[in-house]
Amino acid sequence: MYIDAITLQGFRNYVDAGAEFSGGINVIAGANAQGKTNLLEAIFLVCAGRSFRARSDRELMGFDADMARVEAHGLSGERERRVEVIFTRGRRRQLIVNSVKQKTVETFAGNFSAVLFCPEDLNLIKGGAAERRRLMDLSICQLRPRYAAALNEFNRAYEGKTRILRDWEEKPDLLGLLDEYDYVLARLSAELIHYRANFVEKLAGEAARIHGEFSGGEKLELRYTTVKTVTDPTAPAARIFPEIMEHQRRHREAELASRLCLTGAHKDDIEISVNGAPARSFASQGQTRTAALSMKLAELEIHRGQLGEYPLLLLDDVLSELDERRQDFILNRIGGGQVFITCCEDEKVAKRTGGRVLTVEAGNVYPSGK
Ligand SMILES: Nc1ncnc2c1ncn2[C@@H]1O[C@H](COP(=O)(O)OP(=O)(O)O)[C@@H](O)[C@H]1O
Ligand SMILES: [Mg+2]
Repeated sequence: MYIDAITLQGFRNYVDAGAEFSGGINVIAGANAQGKTNLLEAIFLVCAGRSFRARSDRELMGFDADMARVEAHGLSGERERRVEVIFTRGRRRQLIVNSVKQKTVETFAGNFSAVLFCPEDLNLIKGGAAERRRLMDLSICQLRPRYAAALNEFNRAYEGKTRILRDWEEKPDLLGLLDEYDYVLARLSAELIHYRANFVEKLAGEAARIHGEFSGGEKLELRYTTVKTVTDPTAPAARIFPEIMEHQRRHREAELASRLCLTGAHKDDIEISVNGAPARSFASQGQTRTAALSMKLAELEIHRGQLGEYPLLLLDDVLSELDERRQDFILNRIGGGQVFITCCEDEKVAKRTGGRVLTVEAGNVYPSGK
């Protein structure tokens, strides 16, 4: 799978730009704040149907733009595809595949597929649970399109319930809506939990193998954790649902008192240990880096396994953060897939890969030797 051309209009700091890519390694060079990460974000967007860093569509539109558009063309599953995302101020975004408007993100996400690796991922082990949920969400959205739709619905319902819990004392009428929100949140949580648990099970196997290989036999273990009453998170959603309803029922009073949503998939996490000890507290910096790297490479393998080909790999400023041995470890596992590597202009690291060099400057992309 690869993307051979992209055009960006009104997207972040790109007013009107385009680029052509190599099907192998692409090095995106440029000084700070020129738009390197924005370009990766656009590539990720047309793959996953969501940004890896923006919370709203407005953020993605140029400061002065009323409309933004990202369009990419390439080959995936041996089929030529043209995917397009259009943002219009005050309206819902449009998702288009081969000139056909898609009703939901479900049929858009995963036409192309991408795995992103950025410096924050090096915090996967020591950082908060949100980082680990982000890994699950960004990946599963592409692998299981139904998940992308469920996650959007979940986020909306979660915000709705949070508002009720926050305001119910001032507006007691809101309490009449709580049962419905509980039901919807439990139903969607059960779906998310089912997908996440099965994803983490696969991730755990791959990551343990890769980590063991790199570290000379250290044992990396990943375990998905969720709402306490759930007995088997990998079970079908229909079996998880009543267990969440039960937890919710028991916590109704506490939710009203604390004004917080205490039941649902929003607090899920991945427990990580190295050689039997919780990595968050005990792993050394070297161990946490290797573990994070192993998790990302495991993600890549899962995508490859499902697609039958490598997904796009986006490395945002991450190579320069790693020592040479770890850099080689990544570069040797890229396979024949398409890769995008951002780096500062003076960096040798990425250029050593021998890929096509593109230079980004003030929201324009120039072929090397512009
Ligand atoms: N919505 C937006 N509209 C216009 N410019 C934006 C928008 N969002 C970010 N930018 C600009 O993009 C630049 C950062 O781009 P980025 O891709 O993160 O840089 P880098 O090349 O360092 O990775 C900043 O100058 C920022 O002001
Ligand atoms: Mg950047």
